[in-house]
Amino acid sequence: MTQKEIITSIGVYKYDELDCGERAVVDEARKATFRAYAPYSKFCVGAAILLDNGEIITGSNQENVAYPSGTCAERTACFYAHAQFPDAQFKTIAIAARNTSGEEVAKPISPCGSCRQALLEYEMLAKNDIKVILVGRDEIYTLKSIKSLLPLAFSEF
Ligand code: THU
Repeated sequence: MTQKEIITSIGVYKYDELDCGERAVVDEARKATFRAYAPYSKFCVGAAILLDNGEIITGSNQENVAYPSGTCAERTACFYAHAQFPDAQFKTIAIAARNTSGEEVAKPISPCGSCRQALLEYEMLAKNDIKVILVGRDEIYTLKSIKSLLPLAFSEF
């Protein structure tokens, strides 16, 4: 028997330590939280995707009275980005959130399983890693790829 390990490395930053390109994506994700439609959970999420053409596309969670019909911020953003710019590759995604009191979460949130799988599709398409920036008030986490959020993903058929 052999043992394998999958290690996920996470950079922990303060906002001021990010470069200005990263800060721009983070700023857009934070702004997008204010466009969430979350009357049921009152948990507002924003996602911003930097494309290789320089555009930053944003999305927010869009809830529905029939709960499973709602969509997370990450999928709103990635589906819209690829629908509008089918030839562009994703470079970076930033995700921010505000809690039910309307305050930014102190520690970052991380995408749900369905969003990880959806985002992985665009990383496969890009044939390049998509940098992930998870945004909290006190700490910002960076990961080098979507793959690192979804180890042993189903991705080939
Ligand atoms: N949500 C997101 O938009 N992204 C995440 O990464 C986690 C959860 C949304 C779904 C729902 O509208 C609300 O947050 C509460 O779960």
